[in-house]
Amino acid sequence: MQKRENPYTPGAGRKPPNLAGRDGDLENFQALIERLAEGGYERSLIYSGLRGVGKTVLLMEIDMLASEAGWATTDVQEVGSQPDFRVTFARMAARLLREMSRRHRVRERVERALGVVKAFSMAVPSGIRLKLDVDAASGVADSGDPEQDLTDLISEIGEVARATGTGALFLIDEMHNLDAPSLAAICIAFQAISRNALPVAMVAAGLPDLQVRLMSAKPYADRLFEYHELGRLSDAAARTALIAPAATRGVEFEKEAALQVVQEAAGYPYFIQEYGLELWNEAESSPITVADVAAVREIVTDSLARSFFGTRFALATDAEQRYLAALASLGDPPYRSADAARAYGARDQRGVSIHRDSLIQKGIIWSPRRGQLDFTVPLFAEYLRENHPLISFDDAGA
Ligand SMILES: Nc1ncnc2c1ncn2[C@@H]1O[C@H](COP(=O)(O)OP(=O)(O)O)[C@@H](O)[C@H]1O
Ligand SMILES: [Mg+2]
Repeated sequence: MQKRENPYTPGAGRKPPNLAGRDGDLENFQALIERLAEGGYERSLIYSGLRGVGKTVLLMEIDMLASEAGWATTDVQEVGSQPDFRVTFARMAARLLREMSRRHRVRERVERALGVVKAFSMAVPSGIRLKLDVDAASGVADSGDPEQDLTDLISEIGEVARATGTGALFLIDEMHNLDAPSLAAICIAFQAISRNALPVAMVAAGLPDLQVRLMSAKPYADRLFEYHELGRLSDAAARTALIAPAATRGVEFEKEAALQVVQEAAGYPYFIQEYGLELWNEAESSPITVADVAAVREIVTDSLARSFFGTRFALATDAEQRYLAALASLGDPPYRSADAARAYGARDQRGVSIHRDSLIQKGIIWSPRRGQLDFTVPLFAEYLRENHPLISFDDAGA
């Protein structure tokens, strides 16, 4: 099997050849587009889940569906890297307008709307300069109040979309990065959109605590959006994710071999891709056998340790790494914060709360409920116990 023909795609946001187990989500989105196009109303969609379950690639597929339906889209945009979320929204808005003007004869209407984008961007205190060759509108989206201005901006996009007979789609990734005021502004803006039944939608994704974050920003967020959790694939979907890419290139799996990979990957798409990649590279011939699986097991584990797990672990400071090791030493998640503090060797929880909060901030752990903690990376506890046991920190520290 030729390495360069390897069809597998382990990695963040790498589109797999077969998006397994997500047909229901795609149909649901298709229905949303149709309803909005008919002037109806549909709630925007929020996807949440652990790292590596396929949130980003689902957004990418949804992007394709929307484009095929003639909608303008922002492309999948990661939020949170800018100091002010409005910078990202201003860019997204300008992009949507350009797309709509390219396809439809609405130059003048789009120019006016670009003036609104410009006004919006100029009202951001940190100051952004979008290269927009228009005069800023006045009295719209320029109050400096993010809630009001974002509402104006998104309504403007909606009006243009309606005028062109299409729709506009915001695709937002890593949404858990946004702080409460930013999330609140987004809620308010989409609330306004829903009242006017404009053909604008948002599909957003983030870590598991995204829904709670939205609801604490605006209590009505629970009714405003439709929430979906993405998790591990069913056995059947996981099997498809593994065997279908190879099958299109004439390579098969022995039944038992596929079963083993699905089990060891625990249905997590990232792990399936990693296994597929290594099996393709190492197996001598088709069909791939149980012996092949055994032969690559260590390579897969090493590769995951370096890429998937290691990159997250490296984001933590020394003390935070020790805290992570302390969590893992307690067994499998979820963990009680109180137990974590004890395992860490702190006298009380106050001593470690700074590490806990920082790790939450970095998106490495999250709190499923008050006083509880879990990793955002699946099977992270096993990786930590294997590679960074708590005892290794004691050696270093003493
Ligand atoms: N439904 C799926 N079927 C097969 N592979 C998938 C699927 N979803 C994701 N993947 C693969 O899993 C990995 C992680 O996907 P990604 O979208 O980056 O996850 P997330 O954004 O949730 O962290 C990628 O290697 C991708 O190719
Ligand atoms: Mg992602």
